[in-house]
Amino acid sequence: MIKVGIIGVGTVGTSVANILKENADVISARAGRDIVVKSGVVKNLAKERGLDITLTDNVDDILNDNEIDIVVELMGGVDEAFEVVKCALESGKAVVTANKALLAYHRYELQDLAGNIPFEFEASVAGGIPIINALRDGLSANHIESIMGIMNGTCNYMMTKMTNEGVAYDAILKESQELGYAEADPTFDVGGFDAAHKLLILASIAYGIDAKPEDILIEGIDKVTQDDIAFAKEFGYAVKLLGIAKKDGNEVELRVHACLIKQEEMIAKIDGVMNGISVVGDKVGETLYYGPGAGGDATASAVVANIIDIARSGKSTPMLGFNRPMEGNTLTLKSAD
Ligand code: NDP
Ligand code: HSE
Repeated sequence: MIKVGIIGVGTVGTSVANILKENADVISARAGRDIVVKSGVVKNLAKERGLDITLTDNVDDILNDNEIDIVVELMGGVDEAFEVVKCALESGKAVVTANKALLAYHRYELQDLAGNIPFEFEASVAGGIPIINALRDGLSANHIESIMGIMNGTCNYMMTKMTNEGVAYDAILKESQELGYAEADPTFDVGGFDAAHKLLILASIAYGIDAKPEDILIEGIDKVTQDDIAFAKEFGYAVKLLGIAKKDGNEVELRVHACLIKQEEMIAKIDGVMNGISVVGDKVGETLYYGPGAGGDATASAVVANIIDIARSGKSTPMLGFNRPMEGNTLTLKSAD
C-alpha cells in the first residue's frame, strides 16, 4: 500500500483526495497496489471540507511521518513550498506538485535535489492536459521548433465571457475565483505571470533554458478593454493570451502577451477554461493538445496520474524533466527587448 500526504487541501487537494477514493478500483488496478491518503495539511482547521481524511495545520506532521511515501504539494506560493518540497525530498519521499510558480524559480535546484527520487509535476502546466508527458516523452526524438498556445484557463474563461456575453471584467474575474480556476492571488493570472511560469517549464523541457520570469516579456490581459475585444470581433479576430516559445537559430524567444487571432483559426475557437497548445517538432510536424486548463477535478486528474505512476514504478526511477543544455548546444534566451 502507498500512503500519500497532501500539503494543501484546497480546490485541487480536495479533488485529489476525492479521486483517490472514488476511483480507487481503477487506480489500484493500474498502480498494482492500493493508494490511500494518510493525512492532509491546511491553514484553517476550522473550515468544513467534507473529507474523511485526518487534517493537521502542521506540515511537519507529514514531513516527519515515516509511513508517508508520497508528498503532494498543493499549497501554492514559492518560498514556503520550496522548503516543504526540499525537506520531503531530503527525507527520501517522492513528491508530486502542481505548483508552477515554485517550478518557475526552483525547477533545476529541485531536480538536482531529487536525484533518483521521483519528482513529478504534470498538473503544473495546462491543468488536465498531459502536455509535460507529451513533450518530455512522446516528442523526445524531435528538435522542438515552437510551443505556442493558451496556457491560462482563467484568462481564456474571462476573455470568452467578455467576448460572447459582454460580461464585465471584474464580475467575470470574481466568477473565475469562485469556480476555483484563478490563483490565490489572481494578479498571477490576469498579469500573464502564471502563463509565463508554465511557458518556462515547457521551455526547460524542450530547450534546457534556465530562465526566470523576470528574464522574459510578460504582458497580461489586465489592460485589454471591452472595446478592444468588440473591435477585434468586428474585424474578424479573437483576442487570446498566448505563451510563445520559438527557436530562432541558436536563440529561443519566450514571451507572453495578448494576441489577435483570426476567428477561423483553431486556437481562436478555444473557449472557456480550455487550454490549447501547439508543439512543432522537426520530425513530427505540428501536434496539438487541448483540454481543461484549470479547476479542481481536471487538475487533480493529472496529479493522481503522477501518483499512480510513482506507485507503479517504485522509488528508484529517475523522473527527469528539465533538460539541461547538452554539451555543444548553444541555445540561449533571446532578449525580450
Ligand atoms: P487553494 O488556495 O484552493 O488551496 C491551497 C491549500 O493550501 C489550502 O487548503 C490552504 O489551507 C493550504 N495552505 C496554504 N498555505 C498554507 C500553509 N502555509 N500551511 C498549511 N496549509 C496551507 O489552491 P489550489 O488548490 O487552487 O491550488 C493549489 C496549487 O495548485 C497551486 O500551486 C496552484 O497554482 C496549482 N494549480 C491550481 C489549479 C487550479 O485550477 N486551481 C490548476 C493547476 C495548478 P486553507 O484551505 O486552510 O486556506
Ligand atoms: N490559475 C490557473 C489557470 C490554474 O487559470 O490557468 C491552472 O494552472
